[in-house]
Amino acid sequence: MKVLYAASEALPFMASGGLGDVAGSLPQALRKRLIGCRVVMPLYDTIRQELKDTMKFITHICVPVAWRRQYCGIFEAKYNGVIYYLLDNQYYFKRDTINGQYDDAERFAFFSRAILEIIPHIDFKPDIIHCNDWQTALTPVYYSAMYANSPGYENIKTVFTIHNIQYQGIYGKEVLEDVLGIPQEHASLLEYDGCVNFMKGAIECANKVTTVSQSYADEILDPWYSHGLDGILNERRYKLSGILNGIDVLGYDPETDKSIRANYSAENPADKKLNKEDLQQIMGLPVRADVPVIGMVSRLVAHKGLDLVKGILDELLATSEMQLVVLGSGDYEYESFFREIAAKYPDKVGLRIGFIPDLARKIYAGADMFLMPSKSEPCGLSHMVALRYGTVPIVRETGGLRDSISDCGDGEGNGFTFKSYNAHDMLDAIRRALTVYYNYDWAALTQRALECDYSWGRSANTYIRLYKAMLKE
Ligand code: GLC
Repeated sequence: MKVLYAASEALPFMASGGLGDVAGSLPQALRKRLIGCRVVMPLYDTIRQELKDTMKFITHICVPVAWRRQYCGIFEAKYNGVIYYLLDNQYYFKRDTINGQYDDAERFAFFSRAILEIIPHIDFKPDIIHCNDWQTALTPVYYSAMYANSPGYENIKTVFTIHNIQYQGIYGKEVLEDVLGIPQEHASLLEYDGCVNFMKGAIECANKVTTVSQSYADEILDPWYSHGLDGILNERRYKLSGILNGIDVLGYDPETDKSIRANYSAENPADKKLNKEDLQQIMGLPVRADVPVIGMVSRLVAHKGLDLVKGILDELLATSEMQLVVLGSGDYEYESFFREIAAKYPDKVGLRIGFIPDLARKIYAGADMFLMPSKSEPCGLSHMVALRYGTVPIVRETGGLRDSISDCGDGEGNGFTFKSYNAHDMLDAIRRALTVYYNYDWAALTQRALECDYSWGRSANTYIRLYKAMLKE
C-alpha cells in the first residue's frame, strides 16, 4: 500500500504546532509497519540551510492555479527512512511566516493542486492521499471534481484529518473560480454559510474524515466545539472517526535527551530530581526538593484554558506551598497576567515568555506536575511528553486529554482530571495533586507516568486498518 501524506508542515523541516510533530512522526511509524508512506510539503524559504542541503532536485512542472500557470520545483529528501517531497515556488513560499499571509487562499490552493500534479512525475503512485488541516483541504476537492477520471489518477482514495477545527480556510465566494479554479458547477462542494470554506470541502469530498482523538470526534459534532462545522459534520458523520496521536518517543526520551541536566528512565528514575534542582535554579526559584513544581508549556491563548488559571492562581499561590514554572507566548492579556503574578510571588513563580524548545524539555524533566486545563484540545501532545518524562499531568477532561489521562483517584490513573470548564474544579484537582505529593507515595505516580506508552504503535495500526478498509470499498 502507498500513502502520500500531505501537510503544510512536517518535522524535521518545519513545525509551528502539533501538526508538524505528527507529520514528522506518523509516516515513520507507518514505514516501520511496511506501509509505503511518503510526505509532501512546501519548500519554505525559512527551512534551515543544512536541511536544504540534503534535498535533491527531481524536476519542475507547471501547476494551474485558476488561469495562472505557476512554476513548481520538486525536491526530494530522505529523513529517518521516509522520503519527503518538498514543493518549491518562491513567489508563494519565500515569506517570513508559513501561514497568515494575505494570499493564503492562493498559496495553499497552489500547494493542494500541486500535490496532485506531481503524481505523474514522481515514481510513487499513491493508493491513498492523506491530507491534514485546511492548507491541504482542497486536494480531495480537486481530486473528486477534476482528477478522479483522468488517466494515471484512477482509484485514489483520500483521507482528511482535522487537527485544528478553528482554522478552516474561509474566504469570500469570489475566490472560487478566479483563485481556486473550481468551476461554478462544483461550487456547492465548498460553499458553507455564504462563504467558501476549504475544510468543509474536504469533509464533503474525502472518503474518510478523521480527527486526532475519539473524544474530539464526538465533541466536534456539537456547536460548543465545532466553530460552525457541526452541521456538515453531522451530515457526514458516517465517515468520521477519531484516532489518538502518538509522540516521537525517540525524540523525547529522558534517557538520551541532551537538553536536560541528568538522564533517567523508568528503570532508573532517581536522577529526575537533579533536573528539578536545575530547573529551579534556571528559573530563579528557591532550590527545594520538598516543594512540588507545577510546569506549564503552552501557547498563551484562550482555548488552552488560561481563564481558569487566571481565576484561581492568586488564591492557590497564597494558600499553598508550591512552585509554578510557565513557558509560553501568546495573547497580551495572558502574558501580562503571568508577568504580574510572577512579580507578586517571585519565590513561587518562574516565568519565561517565548517559544524555547530546550527550556520546554527542562520543564518536562524537572517539574513534578504538568498543568494543561484546555477548554478544547483535539489531542494535545505536551501532556504525553510530560508523562514520558515522569511528570504527572493535571488536565481537563476534553478531547485527547480525556482519552489519555485518567484520574488516579480510583487508584489506577496516570494523572489528575476535572470535568467542567470551571476554575474551582481545576483548583480542586490541583489541590488533590498537592495532597498526594505531600502525604502519599508520589514516587509511585512518577513511576506510573514513566511507564505509560504513548508511542505511535497502536494508533499507526489503527490508521493502517482504516486505509485497508478504504481500499476495499
Ligand atoms: C493541533 C491541536 C492539538 C493536536 C495537534 C496534532 O495543534 O491543537 O491538540 O495535538 O494539532 O494533531
